[in-house]
Amino acid sequence: MKIAIGSDHGGFLLKNALIEELKQKGYNIEDFGTYTEESCDYPDIAKVVAKKVAKGEFTRGILICGTGIGMSIAANKTPGIRAALCHDVYSAQMTRRHNDSNILCLGERVIGPGLASLIVETWLTEEFEGGRHQIRIDKI
Ligand code: RB5
Repeated sequence: MKIAIGSDHGGFLLKNALIEELKQKGYNIEDFGTYTEESCDYPDIAKVVAKKVAKGEFTRGILICGTGIGMSIAANKTPGIRAALCHDVYSAQMTRRHNDSNILCLGERVIGPGLASLIVETWLTEEFEGGRHQIRIDKI
């Protein structure tokens, strides 16, 4: 699985922590910025990661900003992207099973790194159930 990850300045520290953790776990992950703590615009990063995932160059994407909200709004503008903002493990599990979400959005200012790590691991390992859920996705 190839993972594209990105953040704005509000998600910079959590992004770096997740990259290290996922690399240690053996995931193939590429960082699409931002690369400093300087203020930047989350839609620019969301667009780059969303397009990489939509084109099939990456299997999944992870986008982080202060709340995760801006990133999720922006990423969902790209056709083929189903970005899910999850701040609990149940939502992360269910959005994979039912929505086949291909981008996970997180808010660094909302949750701590421990919970974020558990949410990411859950989201990366849960499978889409297909069936009636595919019919619903086809209607989006
Ligand atoms: C940046 O201050 C903040 O607005 C951004 O990280 C994000 O939370 C937007 O939704």
